[in-house]
Amino acid sequence: MGAGDKASAVLDLGAVGLPLRAEDLFGDARPLEVELGCGKGRFAVEWAAAHPEIGLLTVERARVYLEQAAARAVRRGLANVRAVHTTAEDLLFRCLADGSVAAVHVYFPDPWPKKRHLKRRFFRPENVARIAEVLRPDGLLRVKSDHAGYAASIAELLAAEPRLAAAPIEESFAGVPESNFEVKYGREGRVVARLASRRIGG
Ligand SMILES: C[S@@+](CC[C@H](N)C(=O)[O-])C[C@H]1O[C@@H](n2cnc3c(N)ncnc32)[C@H](O)[C@@H]1O
Repeated sequence: MGAGDKASAVLDLGAVGLPLRAEDLFGDARPLEVELGCGKGRFAVEWAAAHPEIGLLTVERARVYLEQAAARAVRRGLANVRAVHTTAEDLLFRCLADGSVAAVHVYFPDPWPKKRHLKRRFFRPENVARIAEVLRPDGLLRVKSDHAGYAASIAELLAAEPRLAAAPIEESFAGVPESNFEVKYGREGRVVARLASRRIGG
């Protein structure tokens, strides 16, 4: 990726083979990590900069944010980030192979607090099951939310997925940088719930 070439951090899903593989995206079989709903990309660039040994695929359905995240990665000169303009569901169900992902990051998924909107929440049984499928054995799912009700519901969904086991929180989040929303919520003094689950088995 050439520094200054904004387009080069954006991965065009129409121009690559599926399923997505680290070898094809990054030139070697490095651990592939995924962030779902990256917003403006603060977490993505800080994490990728701290972990040059991984390849990070970060998806966002809002094009304007996706482009901001991609531009941020280029400004930092990061060769290990690909920003994908699609939905988390499309990435999980169509673009990734079973057992191919070392870590999934989901920070501040939209809580949709109104009762009539609850069905729009990303965390539902089929999406949790698909995350468990794409994670490789021992792979880690990390989630943060400022919405206590949604966090409790996510915790229940994770506990109900037999291929996932709760992982220790402090250890799982050591060195994990703040996302854009976390910085904002930190200033507002909001409590943030953290959840981590590890893929069981081989
Ligand atoms: C509350 S923001 C959090 C952004 C970022 N993770 C952070 O912590 O700063 C939620 C983001 O997820 C994106 N999003 C929501 N549902 C999505 C989906 N199904 N697929 C991809 N992105 C999604 C939204 O467009 C928004 O940018």
